[in-house]
Amino acid sequence: MIPNQWYVVLEPSEVPRDRPVGVVRLGERLVFWRDTQGRPVCQRDKCAHRGAALSAGKVVGDCVECPFHGLQYDATGRCQFIPANGKVAQVPERFQVHTYPTQEAHGFIWLWWGEPREGLPPLPWFDDLDDSFPHATFKDHWTVHYSRAIENQLDVAHLPFVHYNTIGRGGRTLIDGPVVKLENDRLQVWVYNRVDDGTAPLKPPDIPEPETPALLHFHFPNIWQNRLGERMRVSLAFVPIDEENTRLYLRFYGRFLGVPVLDRLLCTLSNLGNRIILGQDKRVVLTQQPKRTELAMGEKLFQADRPIVAYRQRREELREHGRWPR
Ligand code: FES
Ligand SMILES: [Fe+2]
Repeated sequence: MIPNQWYVVLEPSEVPRDRPVGVVRLGERLVFWRDTQGRPVCQRDKCAHRGAALSAGKVVGDCVECPFHGLQYDATGRCQFIPANGKVAQVPERFQVHTYPTQEAHGFIWLWWGEPREGLPPLPWFDDLDDSFPHATFKDHWTVHYSRAIENQLDVAHLPFVHYNTIGRGGRTLIDGPVVKLENDRLQVWVYNRVDDGTAPLKPPDIPEPETPALLHFHFPNIWQNRLGERMRVSLAFVPIDEENTRLYLRFYGRFLGVPVLDRLLCTLSNLGNRIILGQDKRVVLTQQPKRTELAMGEKLFQADRPIVAYRQRREELREHGRWPR
């Protein structure tokens, strides 16, 4: 995982207001709960006293209460109350649980997986995808490291094979370019797949500077968008569970009729098709070995894999950059 990044980790509906929820994200057991203002709180799911899971406890006012001996922790992770010591007792400072900064925005809960900092960077959201865009989500679980799931969505050569009867119809097996640009940890990919007419694929410098927005957009560390047009987008959040498990949040965004409730219904219907397409990817990606990727890993790559190489290079740089956790 890349340290010092905002990760999409959950959808807001997955953290109710009345109870804590335990999930594994970024290889850690975490508890999420909401304070009386409804703000999400994320902490390591392990009581400082004797290690019970706070997620098995309850929310009491602005604290989460451990189910074992009733210790209460506030939203900063500080223990406010040890019942066995009585109301009058001071709570020693060592009774703390590690707390991660969170934000709720763009229909997701985000977690800052990194060192504590004054003034955290902005969320890596897509500038052209505003929150009024109607959408519908479906979630899936893949038994691979999230790097494999991301690279599948940057892979332009798989379309006529994996999706031969859906989005890859037409046998466009020859790949010009693709053109790849990386700017501020945002990767853009312009895709030029065509039928093999016996000519050689164009090298990226031989392709004229693109004038239209890129088709594929990936923002580090874990969100991606397929810009199908002004009125239609598919996005994916690749939420790391651990080294071998990823939760995918696929969203279809559509402005079809301009009536949000109908547009959301159409997005839900469109997801029936997206589920089939993602299932085609899943069937193959789950067979890839090993389950996680590295910059130097012995795979034999070719020109069409340039977006994947760009992803691996930048990921490696970011990982070397961040020294957290120490
Ligand atoms: S283990 Fe949590 S209160 Fe004792
Ligand atoms: Fe695919």
